Amino acid sequence: MAFMKKNIQQQRILILDFGSQYAQLIARRVREIGVYCELKPWNISEAEIRAFNPSGIILSGGPASTTEPGSPRAAAYVFSAGLPVLGICYGMQTMAVQLGGSVSGASAREFGHASMTLSTDCTLTRDIHDGLDPAGKPLLDVWMSHGDSVTTLPCGFVSIASTPTCPVAAMVNEEKRFYAVQFHPEVTHTHQGVRILARFVLDLCRCQALWAPAAIIEDIVHRLRQQIGDDHVILGLSGGVDSSVTALLLQRAIGNRLTCVFIDNGLLRLHEAEQVMAMFGDQFGLNIVHIAAQQRFLNALTGIDEPEEKRKIIGNMFVALFDEQASRQKQVKWLAQGTIYPDIIESAAAGASGAHVIKSHHNVAGLPETMKLALAEPLKELFKDEVRKIGLELGLSHEMLHRHPFPGPGLAVRVLGEVRKEYCDLLRRADVIFIEELHRADLYYKVSQAFTVFLPVRSVGVMGDGRKYEWVVALRAVETTDFMTASWARLPYEFLALVSSRIINEISGISRVVFDISSKPPATIEWE
Ligand code: XMP
Repeated sequence: MAFMKKNIQQQRILILDFGSQYAQLIARRVREIGVYCELKPWNISEAEIRAFNPSGIILSGGPASTTEPGSPRAAAYVFSAGLPVLGICYGMQTMAVQLGGSVSGASAREFGHASMTLSTDCTLTRDIHDGLDPAGKPLLDVWMSHGDSVTTLPCGFVSIASTPTCPVAAMVNEEKRFYAVQFHPEVTHTHQGVRILARFVLDLCRCQALWAPAAIIEDIVHRLRQQIGDDHVILGLSGGVDSSVTALLLQRAIGNRLTCVFIDNGLLRLHEAEQVMAMFGDQFGLNIVHIAAQQRFLNALTGIDEPEEKRKIIGNMFVALFDEQASRQKQVKWLAQGTIYPDIIESAAAGASGAHVIKSHHNVAGLPETMKLALAEPLKELFKDEVRKIGLELGLSHEMLHRHPFPGPGLAVRVLGEVRKEYCDLLRRADVIFIEELHRADLYYKVSQAFTVFLPVRSVGVMGDGRKYEWVVALRAVETTDFMTASWARLPYEFLALVSSRIINEISGISRVVFDISSKPPATIEWE
């Protein structure tokens, strides 16, 4: 039966990013509602907006003040395109100023929870509230984070809501379908935030909720088939979420014309190589070339103790081994990579800011430039939570999809100084105890990342009647949302006592366990 395939990206929302820490969150919420959207810099041109062809536009918050000369403004076309527009925080303020209203630095800044009273009915908030005030007016619990406020409404607008410190907490021009809120509907602290965003995207922009895991898979598979045709593809499979989901999507699209290369660098966790081969080779039937390169990596790392040098050696060795494989596979024309949308947004931002490199992350560098292969990046429009959802739909387990992140250079940055096999073996055994106990105590998913670090120092201990003079390990556990800042996890003392005693009792070679109580910044999450 012939049928027209629905393009699930056709109805799309454009989000202009004015630099808010929450901008990506707006995009994730819109996607969760079921509508495709993209985040673009605030200064994109009219031509770029037309080319994107949005069904509606959201203006994000941002750190600037419209009262300062040279502060960001959206292209005038945003307000002449005839599209629904939603301004959030700074987005509301620039909307007000660009349409003839005014903004001033409020005498009282407003940060945190606020109770907002809805004074006037409008489509954006109709029938959405958390309660009623004594006069029967609807109330919303919202999250505020602003210094400036709208003081004069632009022509055609009405104020629809206020808080005790913000007389114009939301304004609308229903005729033009312009809506603006001073609060942040994208954060969970605004209890009805998702309903308000859904009202905008589904009802006011008239988008259908087509963006859902099964449809996304079908869409990606369809596009991969068109892109790749009858060619062959090679992919570096690490066993992490992104490369695994990329592999399974390609397998659906082109079957065994996909070759995966799994490189065992000897720096993986206990039994990890066997697990990856069992899951992806045996269970999913992927075509995997397994390169056992433990010795080559260890040899290359002998005598090297500087962290960045270790990263560089591992990165280069990885590229060389992968390249060697790719050049053996004569029919291969494509290199697939598990690049995701935040990688694209963040590398653009980092490129623009020229930020100082603290640690070079080798898995986001290098490969394509050295190889004469075309690049396929099927996840490049997806956020991590979307990758996990489609991974689940493709048959990957929740446990695998929600495993803590593991760095590309693996244990090499967790064995301080020179990497030796003996150290890695001890570290693997200690780490497995720590992780096992975190699961058992129901703490694993409460921390963002946890691991053990090997310290190449000996410490005296006593066991039975004997003296021990053995190695030290540190337990590291952090809580974070973005891995840019992190606080050390306050694990219960009883739990730490159990892990420590298991490690010291069960692993001959380790005589002392310490717990890392450094936050980031100034420390980093990994020790190297
Ligand atoms: P840091 O130590 O920079 O870590 O606070 C932040 C996050 O990045 C991970 N990390 C790496 N990931 N290659 C990677 O793929 C690396 O070289 C690397 N160094 C750190 C770290 O595990 C944490 O999740």
